[in-house]
Amino acid sequence: MAFNRTGLTNDIDRVLFTEEQIAEKVRELGERITRDYAGKNPLLICILRGAVPFFADLCKCIGDYMEMDFMAISNYGDGMVNTGRNHISKDVSTDIEGRHVIIVEDIVDSGRTLDHLTRLLNTRNPASLKIACLLDKYKARAENISLTPEYYCFPVDNEFVVGYGLDYAGAYRNLPFIGVLKEEVYKDEQ
Ligand code: PRP
Repeated sequence: MAFNRTGLTNDIDRVLFTEEQIAEKVRELGERITRDYAGKNPLLICILRGAVPFFADLCKCIGDYMEMDFMAISNYGDGMVNTGRNHISKDVSTDIEGRHVIIVEDIVDSGRTLDHLTRLLNTRNPASLKIACLLDKYKARAENISLTPEYYCFPVDNEFVVGYGLDYAGAYRNLPFIGVLKEEVYKDEQ
């Protein structure tokens, strides 16, 4: 049954990726991970909160044994910028030593969050550690970070994207598509 999202969608300038386009890419990625990790029982770690919809859909597209865990990382940035002052506010409960680990993120922007996370998780001696992200905002990497996700669904430009887990001030995560937020919604905050 269709329902009314007018309030939310009025704030969207344009749709970048539709629900169908996302579903297709996520399915392809799930099939790739299924092949790459055959017999390895990978541990997929969801980085709260933005990765939740992507993580849930991706896991359902993996057709072999796998496990799930969750982490949360806060950064004490100045508004919309990650300054790199990151703090783990929820850690995984799984011992990752000797495990094949895939970190699942919604977006790589400056790369600081994942740079911090991969350094930390590598100190725990996983058998392998890779990154799967929905969006790669590859032009936004911080100068000192040259991080490339092994798996990603879509490259994006330096635009303010929301939906399918991505938020602005906590809102829009529940949109089923990914869109560009109208500038007037956030310009007074910058
Ligand atoms: C977002 C996103 C990544 C990070 C990417 O998280 O989910 O974790 O920023 O930015 P970076 O590459 O510049 O580090 P946010 O702190 O907004 O938390 P959220 O997942 O709860 O939205």
